Amino acid sequence: MVRIGAMDFALGGGELDMGHTAIIGAMKKTSPAPDPASPGGSAKPSVKGKKVNKAWLHDHINDPYVKLATREGYRARAAYKLKEIDETFGLVKPGQLVVDLGCTPGAWSQYLRRRMSPQGAAVGEMNGTIIGLDLLPMEAIEGVHFIQGDFREAEVLAQLEVALGGQQADLVVSDMAPNLSGISSADAARIEYLVELAIEFAQNHMKPEGALVAKVFHGGSYNDVVQRFKAAFRTVKPFKPKASRDRSSETFLVGLGLK
Ligand SMILES: C[S@@+](CC[C@H](N)C(=O)[O-])C[C@H]1O[C@@H](n2cnc3c(N)ncnc32)[C@H](O)[C@@H]1O
Repeated sequence: MVRIGAMDFALGGGELDMGHTAIIGAMKKTSPAPDPASPGGSAKPSVKGKKVNKAWLHDHINDPYVKLATREGYRARAAYKLKEIDETFGLVKPGQLVVDLGCTPGAWSQYLRRRMSPQGAAVGEMNGTIIGLDLLPMEAIEGVHFIQGDFREAEVLAQLEVALGGQQADLVVSDMAPNLSGISSADAARIEYLVELAIEFAQNHMKPEGALVAKVFHGGSYNDVVQRFKAAFRTVKPFKPKASRDRSSETFLVGLGLK
């Protein structure tokens, strides 16, 4: 995990999915540039690190999903991961209540919002409720109720419960990715914990026929996380969208119908 300005990005385990304009802006503002080879970033990036950054930036700028996101007005290429998951499993419908965990910079919420608009519009009429939550701030998205806070904290969960107003969600999506320390056992435990909390949230606040989509990572705690999903949901499907880079160990678990 490297830190660029106020944003945390996972390089390797997770992904940097922002549009390239935002990234170049963030990188220009911040010196030194992030070092993907050094989790946690480095005060003095190595020459090798700079080369890695250049290569990574080149790949990113030429990425078809980054170009598409820029063209279609999405804040991050991540939108196309949720789009593909939705198109495969038919999850998002107008009128639903959807909770978006780890929503910043907001591409998944933008996608959800468009799906709930009669013409797929980014603004204007919308039929449904979207509640987004993230540790980091998020630029407002019309029609999306945003809560800033750490999902692991009880007070933040309480805020989310207030926003739900006693209603149950139809769909919970979690793209949460923790800050990685580079110590694999600690990182696996952090990832597993966030997924466990998302499952618990779905069990307590989602309709029995609802669905949970959660980002998980291969290796480490993957098998345990799958078992936790299987204990909670009637059907569990692993899914790696094309928009998720091959080199990334991230994948998604889709849990359909609570047990
Ligand atoms: C890959 S990004 C999400 C991208 C988002 N789905 C989108 O489409 O723009 C992962 C997010 O998870 C958030 N996150 C990580 N741990 C969190 C926690 N404990 N509580 C809330 N958000 C968390 C991070 O701040 C980060 O913004």
